[in-house]
Amino acid sequence: MSLHDKIPNNVDLNHDRRLQKALEKWQPKFVEWWTDMGPEGFQANDVYLRTAVSVEKDGWADFRYVKMPDYRWGIFLTPEEKHRPVGFGDMINVPSFENVPGEFRNSLRRLIVTQGDTEPASVEQQRLLGQCCPSLYDLRNLFQVNVEEGRHLWAMVYLLHRYFGRDGREEADELLERRSGNADKPRILEAFNQPIEDWLSFFCFTMFVDRDGKFQLAALAESGFSPLRRTTRFMLTEEAYHLFVGDTGISRIVRRSAQLHKESNGDPIGLGGIPLQIIQRYINYWFTYSLDLFGGEISSNAADFFASGLKGRYNEEKKFQDHVANEGFVDIPVVEGGTLTNRQVPTRNAMNELLRDEYISDSENAIRRWNKVIASEGVDFELTLPHRRFHRHKGEYAGHYFDTDGAIVTEGVYRAMASEILPSEEDYALVKSLMVQVTKPGQMANWICPPKQGIDGQSLEFEYVRLN
Ligand SMILES: [Fe+2]
Ligand SMILES: [Fe+2]
Repeated sequence: MSLHDKIPNNVDLNHDRRLQKALEKWQPKFVEWWTDMGPEGFQANDVYLRTAVSVEKDGWADFRYVKMPDYRWGIFLTPEEKHRPVGFGDMINVPSFENVPGEFRNSLRRLIVTQGDTEPASVEQQRLLGQCCPSLYDLRNLFQVNVEEGRHLWAMVYLLHRYFGRDGREEADELLERRSGNADKPRILEAFNQPIEDWLSFFCFTMFVDRDGKFQLAALAESGFSPLRRTTRFMLTEEAYHLFVGDTGISRIVRRSAQLHKESNGDPIGLGGIPLQIIQRYINYWFTYSLDLFGGEISSNAADFFASGLKGRYNEEKKFQDHVANEGFVDIPVVEGGTLTNRQVPTRNAMNELLRDEYISDSENAIRRWNKVIASEGVDFELTLPHRRFHRHKGEYAGHYFDTDGAIVTEGVYRAMASEILPSEEDYALVKSLMVQVTKPGQMANWICPPKQGIDGQSLEFEYVRLN
């Protein structure tokens, strides 16, 4: 473990001078990108952040005040599981790949670049949120998520530099050149080009989009390409925190909204709250954009990734008996001649859909928890997840119109109900009008409840970000 090097790492960078030099050349470009595109207005402030300092389960993180540009972004892989074989696909039981097998080079690079691109994209999307934070606690959490996405970028860039030669170095540079929402050089995946201008969007993003990240990383953490497996395993520990921020963030808003619904007999706007119906529409929007991230329902790419042992299923090792998955079919409804019909899809070609199933049931758990919060405040309202076919831009259902229960509807019907089921301009304007910056230690914006506890055992009054 080299913690005090220019680039903290546990990959023995010292012993690979060429790689070390290449990464040290990339580092200033990264810092320049961070300064330009990272959180605006807080680069000189001390933030109470955790930094990864070890890969051991207990004590991998260290909390202290850091100015974000000085954050110790490092390269950490979970320790090697010795001689672990490939766990699935056509190469099952051969030794894990320590280097990139030539025939999989392009697919692997594509997987790594696509994952890598999401990391800086989300930092760009979230860069203005500090200016309307509901509390110092939340401000600090935003920055924690941002620096860790920066570290995730480092993790992917390490793989590109170490295993893909000149192509990899070029890809690493391009990761810093694309920009979220830019018309000429957009980020690769559409959810990462959507603006995030208010904190309800931020919490929906960390709840739903980062949760896609959890499932993608988990599928890659089964990979037969050992460096990718070990990198993504460590990233999952950080990702769990991002999900916590999103899940508890929405839960705190839901509680406050329910309280204000009750106080106002169903019209919380007058009391400065966010109506539960608007929260529902935000959920509809972000959940469905996240569903797109899993890719096509029927996918030969997904089949190839599985066959070649690069990307497994969720909990492949623990959950499944048959790791070859060369038999059997999955029924997937597709649109044919304007109606839905079932198609029998070979399991390997349905891998994206199987991962999406896991994601949906994970998301349903959160909805159940939030509904308990609403009920505990004595309000009669239930949040739901929209159907997986609703509001899709990728895959079998893109280009068709569905209602939130998944029934096919005409474009006219869909347009007529759009303002009821997706956030409208008025919704965005209302939510934005509530986003007034609160930065006194211990204070909380009115539209959200305080969290149950502070960070790292600190109180809610703690000065999580020093503003002066
Ligand atoms: Fe990430
Ligand atoms: Fe994340």
